[in-house]
Amino acid sequence: MFRVPGIALRGVVALAGIVALAATLPSDVSAQKRMKKSEPTLIYVPTPQNVVDKMLEVAKVTKDDYVFDLGSGDGRIPITAAARYGARGFGVDINPKLIAEARRNAKIAGVSDRVEFRQQDLFKTSVRDATVVGLYLFVWANEKLRPRLISELRPGSRIVAHDFPIGDDWKPDLEEDIENRTVYLWYVPAQVAGRWEISGGPPGLSVLLQQRFQMIEGTASVNGRSVPLTNARLRGDAIEFTVAFDGEKPMLFRGRVNGGKIEPEAPVGAMTGWSAVRTSPATVPAVIRSRG
Ligand SMILES: C[S@@+](CC[C@H](N)C(=O)[O-])C[C@H]1O[C@@H](n2cnc3c(N)ncnc32)[C@H](O)[C@@H]1O
Repeated sequence: MFRVPGIALRGVVALAGIVALAATLPSDVSAQKRMKKSEPTLIYVPTPQNVVDKMLEVAKVTKDDYVFDLGSGDGRIPITAAARYGARGFGVDINPKLIAEARRNAKIAGVSDRVEFRQQDLFKTSVRDATVVGLYLFVWANEKLRPRLISELRPGSRIVAHDFPIGDDWKPDLEEDIENRTVYLWYVPAQVAGRWEISGGPPGLSVLLQQRFQMIEGTASVNGRSVPLTNARLRGDAIEFTVAFDGEKPMLFRGRVNGGKIEPEAPVGAMTGWSAVRTSPATVPAVIRSRG
């Protein structure tokens, strides 16, 4: 049963509609098992409300977010995001009955002004405006969506999935179990592969970064000396790495990636007064190329 906790849903008729829909569906558990085994069709199985709540919680949804659900069913993910957090929401589904259902549910929850549902193919839906994308689809569908998610979403946007990851090679940033379900979270990484010249630090310092999704590693060079970076991390557009030449004080660089530039963020202990410019980017976006 779809209920946004703490929010009274009015309208017995709509509620009865949801009950009727649920009655035509296999139980969640058996449907899940079939979905995981071999069923290739993206059938309608709703995410239990407590799992929806967990998805939005791990994605840290706020009123500033625009939450998309690709294959939105009865609309519970965008509706809950709007009702609980004041976010805007958008859902697409191929099934016109579910779109009608979702619109009714949005009305009942009092969020029709902030949530929109459209009958359209999720594989042809732009996610450019989303800051959070919800997925409860098979792995094959998530993988098919992946190039679009990576190329269209802004760095730092979150993708939150119920039970099915986005392929084996893009490890989630967070994974939480809730009552035999799994919630996965990914931050869309900035594309940072390439050579970066750092000014404002030791003269002539450059850094060469390799990237595989959010995993980065690299080398720092200055005056012909090179060392591997230590503690290199990327989350969305937030990057940090430490440069430690033998016998010298380690230098922690922490900053934000903005296209071909990195601007410093300098909490205690980090370098100040530097910036970086990418001088030779990877020709193909590294996070996409890293599939092969
Ligand atoms: C497993 S359900 C998830 C429903 C909802 N997101 C939730 O978590 O409660 C998958 C949904 O994808 C929809 N769907 C399947 N193929 C689609 C397509 N090509 N375009 C849009 N929606 C599709 C189905 O109608 C179904 O509602």
